[in-house]
Formats: sequence, structure tokens, C-alpha cells
Amino acid sequence: MSAAQLPPWPPAPPRWGSVLLRQVQEKDVPMAQEMSADAYIPQIGSLPPHADHRQAREWVQRQQTRHEQGIGFSFTIADAGSDEPVGHCGLWLKEISAGRGSAGYAIRPSARGRGLAAEALLALTSFGWDIPLLHRIELYIEPWNTGSIRTAEQAGYAREGVLRSHQEIGGVRRDMLLFAAVRP
Ligand SMILES: CC(C)(COP(=O)(O)OP(=O)(O)OC[C@H]1O[C@@H](n2cnc3c(N)ncnc32)[C@H](O)[C@@H]1OP(=O)(O)O)[C@@H](O)C(=O)NCCC(=O)NCCS
Repeated sequence: MSAAQLPPWPPAPPRWGSVLLRQVQEKDVPMAQEMSADAYIPQIGSLPPHADHRQAREWVQRQQTRHEQGIGFSFTIADAGSDEPVGHCGLWLKEISAGRGSAGYAIRPSARGRGLAAEALLALTSFGWDIPLLHRIELYIEPWNTGSIRTAEQAGYAREGVLRSHQEIGGVRRDMLLFAAVRP
């Protein structure tokens, strides 16, 4: 889809509980570096493992082009009070013409254990329903990833099944659980 067809950036940051979703900014580079040291995050996105400052900055810059490229909305999850970055999430809309999108999320290791991913996913999903064309948001989660499964459940997503050998992660074909939310 061309960039012109993507809905505009939300005029106010989507919020839920203690988080808001805003543009990825230069000041998020240290968070990107912290997330790049996580064992799993570099396997499921474009952040290189143990990124140096330049690589983390390039990741930030890539996120800043996702909307204009028509790929979707790439958000920093920030503390609603301090604006400090606590993670990243995206609403990916390459299939918006079919009424579908997918979402992904990660919390920086030092901010985990407070249910922030579920709050971010609730904010992201609520924002998604502001997009008239969007009827269904999908999540693809590895069966071992209990933290992500709980996040999906807490945000109201329903488990729909197992997609066997769905994609390659870390050089290995992986089964993925399909979770989805549909427009209320
Ligand atoms: C998944 C992730 C986003 C969750 O972050 P978070 O919001 O800080 O999650 P929390 O630590 O608050 O845990 C949320 C729930 O999962 C449970 N959980 C978290 N890690 C768990 C684990 N390793 N084993 C079992 N349960 C776990 C918690 O107990 C909590 O459940 P509860 O609310 O029923 O008590 C975070 O772990 C992360 O960034 N992981 C790497 C990236 C990733 O996997 N992204 C998702 C790809 S599909």
C-alpha cells in the first residue's frame, strides 16, 4: 500500500493506564541499546544484537520512516508521567486493504514485570479501532512465550490456533500461536 493510503498519525498520543504511545525519538537510543541486549528481541525485528550507539540510532531512524513508507505505526511506549521510554510497539498495516493489521511489542528489560505491554497493547488496539478500514488485528506468538501470551489475553485478544512452521526466527522454523482481536 502506498503511504498516501495510510491513516494520518494520531493527533494525540494513544494512552492506556500508565503508558502513552508516541513517535520514536533520538532520546530513545539508550532504550534501543538496552533492548538489543535482550536474547529474543533482536531475533524478531531489525535491531541488531548488542547494538552500538550508531546501530541503535539507525534503528530509531528506521522506525521514524515506517509511517511514510506505508508500513504502519511504529511507537515508543513511554511512561505517561515522565515520557521516559519503556518499550516499543507497532501496528503494521500492509494488509489494511483487506481490513487486517498485525501488532508487535517489547518492553525494555529494566521496565518489565509491571504489565506495561498489556497497557500498551490496549492503547494500540483502541487506536486501531479509530482506523475505519481496520477490522482485525493479529498477534503471532511463540508457544513458549508465556509473558506475551498473558499480555495478549490481558488486552482481550483471543487465541485462534497454531500456525505450524509459520516463520523462521533465529534460523529455525517456528510454530506460532495466532491471537486476534476484532473490531467490537
Ligand atoms: C513479552 C513482554 C513484552 C512482556 O513484558 P511485561 O509487560 O513487562 O510483562 P510482565 O513481566 O508484566 O508479565 C505479564 C504477565 O506474563 C507473565 N510472565 C511474564 N514472563 C513470564 C515467564 N517467563 N513465565 C511465565 N509467565 C510470565 C507474568 O506473570 C504476567 O502474568 P500475570 O499478569 O498473569 O501475573 C516482555 O517480556 C518482552 O519484551 N519480551 C521480549 C519481546 C517479546 O517477546 N515480545 C513479544 C513477541 S510476540
